[in-house]
Amino acid sequence: MPAPVNHPEAPLRLERMGAHAVEFLGHYGPGAGLRHFFSPGRVNLFGGHLDYNGGPVMPTAIDRGTFIAVRPRSDSIVRMTSGLGQGGVEFDLARLPDQRLGSWVDYPLGVVIDLARRTCMGGGTPVGMDISFGGDLPIGSGLSSSASICVGTALMLDTLWGLGMSAVECVHAALSAEREFVGVQCGIMDPFAIGCARRDHILWLDCKDESYEHLPIDQASLAILVTDTGVKRELAASEFNLRVQQCGEAYEFLRRGSSDAECLRDIPMSVLDACRPQMDPVLARRAEHVIRETQRTFLAREHLLVGETVGLGACMSQTHASLRDLYDVSCPELDLLVEAARDCPQALGARLTGAGFGGCTVTLVQRGAEETVRAALSARFEAQYGRVPTVEVFGGDSGPREIQLP
Ligand code: GLA
Repeated sequence: MPAPVNHPEAPLRLERMGAHAVEFLGHYGPGAGLRHFFSPGRVNLFGGHLDYNGGPVMPTAIDRGTFIAVRPRSDSIVRMTSGLGQGGVEFDLARLPDQRLGSWVDYPLGVVIDLARRTCMGGGTPVGMDISFGGDLPIGSGLSSSASICVGTALMLDTLWGLGMSAVECVHAALSAEREFVGVQCGIMDPFAIGCARRDHILWLDCKDESYEHLPIDQASLAILVTDTGVKRELAASEFNLRVQQCGEAYEFLRRGSSDAECLRDIPMSVLDACRPQMDPVLARRAEHVIRETQRTFLAREHLLVGETVGLGACMSQTHASLRDLYDVSCPELDLLVEAARDCPQALGARLTGAGFGGCTVTLVQRGAEETVRAALSARFEAQYGRVPTVEVFGGDSGPREIQLP
């Protein structure tokens, strides 16, 4: 995978990764040859739940993510551990595991198994390694810690095993681990947002044909605030898979009225309006979200390109309303934060990010007003729920890469 454009690494990242390296040595013992990789998380700004409906999405990578410390071995044993969760795994590359373990380890394990098989099929012999995962991305908050670990693992193996994969091939390896090994029907947005990130840009990805471009975001006038409700997304996996299924059913119903539609995103609103009386009302609401959100994402793109930040923020808030009312993936804590942003003049717009059902909101803010907005969101949330939410300003990131520690 080609290295992303080099920006000097932030001192805080080097410090945190340095601490992670010390943990690695504490766990596996001293020795030379340790290497370090970083893979970011992401926030989605526009195009909520469109990726698995073939629609356009506009995510951006953030300057928090997964740390991978790795040391090649002279045999074919792989050992994986993490400071982030319980458990680990050890196996021989000559006898790859074929069962999930039911813990965080399944994500990187799925990637290792896939790329080890490919290496063997290409006539290569993958070497074993000791790996430790860590990071500074809140887990389970909708910032895509799972895609971050999977894409980072793909890049690390590509580098150590000399596979010569492109960024998009790493994205697909990560996606197939999540879908086929872990078993979540997630879309392509998250690994793409991470694997093909460019700093100071929002990714424009059309999920129908995977064409993409990088749209500049004016960091001097816009800041992205991420507020964590602290609500665990317990329903996320089951309800997410249900939305995927419902959208599939809505498409099957509506395509009869629109024979050239290849996915739900292609269905015109007029066809939905005509079919609505015969349709299951829940499926009709899911389809309405997808059709209107597709139109809104194209509009947001236009606003971004001409610097129309007020219109951009309004699109974001409309997205949230649609995710809340038509797609049913919000919760009272997320809604309150979005309302609080609406009442704050320096906030341009806000929405839930990720799949929903808890986790974080993302708020678009005029640069310079971050502290004012942070105080307003915190005060409103505390008054209602009696606890202070975590509000953070994230910078952008240029995608997964190997990092040389000083
Ligand atoms: C999760 C999924 C993504 C996407 C979003 C909703 O993050 O992993 O593929 O569907 O939800 O936009």
